Amino acid sequence: MAQRVRKAVLPVAGLGTRFLPATKAMPKEMLTVVDRPLIQYAVEECLAAGIEEFVFVTGRNKGALEDHFDVAYELEATLEQRGKGAELKQSQEATLKAGNAIFTRQQKPLGLGHAVWCARHWIGREPFAVLLPDELMVSSPTCTAQLVAAHEKTGGNVLAVMEVPREQTKSYGIVEIKDETNGLAEMTGIVEKPKPEEAPSTLAWIGRSVVMPEVFDHLAKHQTGAGGEIQLTDAMAKMIGHTPFHALRYAGQRYDCGNRLGFLEANIAIALQDPDSGADTRALLTRLLKG
Ligand code: G1P
Repeated sequence: MAQRVRKAVLPVAGLGTRFLPATKAMPKEMLTVVDRPLIQYAVEECLAAGIEEFVFVTGRNKGALEDHFDVAYELEATLEQRGKGAELKQSQEATLKAGNAIFTRQQKPLGLGHAVWCARHWIGREPFAVLLPDELMVSSPTCTAQLVAAHEKTGGNVLAVMEVPREQTKSYGIVEIKDETNGLAEMTGIVEKPKPEEAPSTLAWIGRSVVMPEVFDHLAKHQTGAGGEIQLTDAMAKMIGHTPFHALRYAGQRYDCGNRLGFLEANIAIALQDPDSGADTRALLTRLLKG
């Protein structure tokens, strides 16, 4: 039987240069989509999949992330005194249980594979989720819950994938698959950021995965790949054929908040879906578009 997925690694050491000057003194994962920071969406996605233990791989200037998931004693005491129950609940909902979050630093920007390797002691030898919080997923069940369910069936690694236009393969890990049934397929290969003419397919890994602990054995070798970085996908490629490895077509909405337009799209789309303010947002957009 597959081991339960209890832990997630959230690599959050990136500088966020695409969002300067907003990210000059603030982690990019604290950028807000409607009412909550990007990082909170990723954490909530995990909680909805039954994952309660988090390893945040951070860097310098990322202290706000740690504060965000802590008890905000002064704020919450004031809200309580003032009888602001709804606001108090909003603050408390962003708190992780005591002892369930670890913050460890990636001391040098050596690549995503290196960032995940920095979490090895906190994960140990069990399957774990990896989520890249720049990608915001909206679906029910959550993207991570879909992967956890697939892991329970296959007992191995599972990556969430989506079709991308061929000219974009150079921005993603691109997978090769066989024997697809109901969106779940065996993986036969993965290549990091191939040129469009060399990509084995147009199926991209979209930053959500359940990974087996054997990945640490490969990452420990610190081999560099595309862009001179230690790539997670290179370590994954070495596991194919040794441990079960599947790709799952993600069923749901995905917003790439790693770029300005995707971030704006996420804000608009999520505001439009909001049960309280969606209609007002639609009216506002219509007015603005009329100019
Ligand atoms: C990373 C991974 C890549 C994956 C992508 C998804 O790339 O290396 O394999 O497809 O995330 O967002 P990055 O976007 O960090 O360059």
